[in-house]
Amino acid sequence: MKVLITGTNGLLGQHLAPLLLKKGYEVVATGKGEPRFALEAGAPIRYHSIDITDPMNVYHLMELEKPEVVVHAAAMTQVDDCEKDPEHCEQTNVQATTQLLVDAETFSRHFIYLSTDFVFDGERGNYGEEDELSPVNFYGFTKLQAEGVVQTSEIPWAIVRTSLVYGNVSHARRSNIIGWIRESLEKRQPIKVVSDQRRTPTFVEDLAQGIILIIEKKATGIYHIAGKDELSPYEMAIQTAELLQLDHSNIEKVDASSFSQPGKRPPRTSLLIGKARKELGYEPLSFREGLRKVLGKT
Ligand SMILES: NC(=O)c1ccc[n+]([C@@H]2O[C@H](COP(=O)([O-])OP(=O)(O)OC[C@H]3O[C@@H](n4cnc5c(N)ncnc54)[C@H](OP(=O)(O)O)[C@@H]3O)[C@@H](O)[C@H]2O)c1
Repeated sequence: MKVLITGTNGLLGQHLAPLLLKKGYEVVATGKGEPRFALEAGAPIRYHSIDITDPMNVYHLMELEKPEVVVHAAAMTQVDDCEKDPEHCEQTNVQATTQLLVDAETFSRHFIYLSTDFVFDGERGNYGEEDELSPVNFYGFTKLQAEGVVQTSEIPWAIVRTSLVYGNVSHARRSNIIGWIRESLEKRQPIKVVSDQRRTPTFVEDLAQGIILIIEKKATGIYHIAGKDELSPYEMAIQTAELLQLDHSNIEKVDASSFSQPGKRPPRTSLLIGKARKELGYEPLSFREGLRKVLGKT
């Protein structure tokens, strides 16, 4: 079965592509510019450089490849960048998703869209798939809009909402929370980490595995694919320091109010994963287990 991934140079794409290959899928990887992910030499994968905001190129690629499954992970993911350039964010996250979906309706059989816990306002946490959406920043708003478009699709669709994804990443433009904490601690750089935001941090390989379960089961609808523990970034930083046996006196516990960021952050957006467990057999690692893998402490 042929699976096309958008955003393969990103954190999720870099892990999903090799996992799909290992399971025997034919993988069409796409990303902006040159490929920036590590694969074993000779891996049977085709890479196409494509800007998803260019509808004609997207159409021609979909016509050429006719993938049975599309996993749409590419997005403008930086909350503050979306706030500063809402037009570009809307074009990337909503318009490009709409275009890709139209093409998938012609050439594909299953469309899987990556969304976020930031579609919720974060006032109470422990959100289920059917809870009310009320994003507090523009990034979350564009993901909500794209979710709405996906739900009108004429082909089977799945929406995967995830939360604060962590894992190792090569040659990516951005690091992720564990990479940033580790690097700062190793360089003995003081860091300020918030303790009044709570997430369900998601090990990237668990997320990739959840998506593969959706593909295998041809599952449709909305699924929360996240970690099973609710933590604050500060708690994550302390656990990282402990596992690495590094001094955590450089980690300063702060409130979100001590940062002046363009995009507001929702305080508590933990996701309930009971539906994915029951319907897909999804079972993520604990945060400590995932962290051990990322830090090579297994
Ligand atoms: N990471 C998280 O904590 C998190 C949490 C909740 C939801 N999600 C969602 O999960 C999905 C995957 O996240 P991720 O962590 O893998 O994000 P990521 O590392 O930021 O990767 C996103 C990828 O999209 C690509 N992209 C952006 N604009 C593009 C365009 N116009 N054309 C082609 N590619 C474009 C980026 O390319 P460049 O590398 O060239 O910039 C990047 O490789 C996203 O949809 C995100 O919204 C992520």
